[in-house]
Amino acid sequence: MGNYVIVGTQWGDEGKGKIVDLLSEHADYVVRFQGGNNAGHTMVVDGEKFISHLVPSGILQKKKCYIGNGVVVDPEVLLEEIAYLGGKGVDVSPEYLRLSDRAQVIMPYHKRIDHARELKKGDGKIGTTGRGIGPCYEDKASRVGIRFLDFLNADVLRAKVTEALQEKNFLLENYFGEEPEDVEKTIAYCLKLAEELKPYITDSSVEINKGMDNGLNVVFEGAQGTHLDIDHGTYPFVTSSNTVSGNACCGAGVGPGKITGVLGIVKAYTTRVGAGPFPSELFDEAGAYMQEKGVEFGATTGRRRRCGWLDMVVLRNAARLNGLTGIVLTKLDVLGGLKELKICTGYEYKGEIVTDFAADLELLDNCTQVCETLPGWDEDITGVRSYEDLPENAKTYIKRIEELAGTPVDVISVGPGREETIVMKNHF
Ligand code: GDP
Ligand code: IMO
Ligand code: MG
Repeated sequence: MGNYVIVGTQWGDEGKGKIVDLLSEHADYVVRFQGGNNAGHTMVVDGEKFISHLVPSGILQKKKCYIGNGVVVDPEVLLEEIAYLGGKGVDVSPEYLRLSDRAQVIMPYHKRIDHARELKKGDGKIGTTGRGIGPCYEDKASRVGIRFLDFLNADVLRAKVTEALQEKNFLLENYFGEEPEDVEKTIAYCLKLAEELKPYITDSSVEINKGMDNGLNVVFEGAQGTHLDIDHGTYPFVTSSNTVSGNACCGAGVGPGKITGVLGIVKAYTTRVGAGPFPSELFDEAGAYMQEKGVEFGATTGRRRRCGWLDMVVLRNAARLNGLTGIVLTKLDVLGGLKELKICTGYEYKGEIVTDFAADLELLDNCTQVCETLPGWDEDITGVRSYEDLPENAKTYIKRIEELAGTPVDVISVGPGREETIVMKNHF
């Protein structure tokens, strides 16, 4: 029993959605605490696939789901997602979905600025998802953001949108050379969406803490990954929020003393979508094998994911930054069929071996990975449900990860389906 934070340890798309869905069976509340619809979390239940961008992945298990204060929410996308899930027979009524009144609204101008900025950057672009995430978090920090609370008061909304658009329109017209946004149209757009979202808006921190005080179990669902964290990732090729476990507390409004443990989701190899350093990236057949067999295309933008060996510099960094108490190893099945597996244990740069993940992009871009080689396995392991039944070489691979990370592997995922999982330690 307890409250667990689930975070991605690499560059996102580690399989957080699948694992949160799985663990939610034993939870009462599931809370998203950062990011927005830049996330794409996939769940496969009884062969049916669900992708969520904003609604926490606990929704399929009929758990109370919270979109916390730390999330940036595109109201149109949220309503579309509610309709999409509802259409698949999932109950997404306000009984199961709650939205923090403090969460920031992604406005139409945020999306336009995100696009315009990337376009202007040209080759130097970050490769954002174009969902307005960065511009929305900028406004939050600049204290000119719109919160869902403002959706409930037309006068306040009018004043805030009018003020915000003075600056945004100056930027759009004079810097990006684009059309301005119409103030009245923007206000009308918000008021229409507000009407639909009203029943979901609540003081989520109060509700979540009340539940915890009554002994309910909470899963905090991270988005993106540790190396996309705005402080700790490959800045500026990062997202605009803190993705590490510490932010679960800020983004949900709970105290750190209430967290029982932190599970790091680790893909058995590494992927990255968008631009930025990736020291263990492969441009050979092994990389192509992972890309194809792992179906490595983004769940949000459909972009091809770059692939590489499992990187222990990255994983050790994630273990330290998140205070990982356990690892969930995903997509182990994808590695089956490769003769040899490599694990990156350090980076060689200017004749030195580096084992700490550096802040310096010049180093990360120009180092070469130092690897150890382990034997692969040929068997299809998607049907395996107990550790003992895994091929010996798969066990060796797992043991080596545990040794190098200094963290136990508690759960192993061998396929996208909820049941395609080996649970070694049940956390609830
Ligand atoms: P998230 O963003 O971390 O939730 O991950 P995504 O959903 O974006 O990407 C993970 C992809 O891998 C999805 O298509 C999942 O269905 C799939 N997946 C998750 N776990 C496994 C696994 O163990 N094996 C295989 N083959 N696919 C998996
Ligand atoms: P999930 O939760 C993978 C990447 C983008 C880009 C960078 C900045 O599914 O793991 P942003 O739109 O956030 O300003 O883009 O971050 N990115 C992700 N990559 N998985 C994600 O989420 C991501 N969310 C953002 O590709 O490189
Ligand atoms: Mg994803």
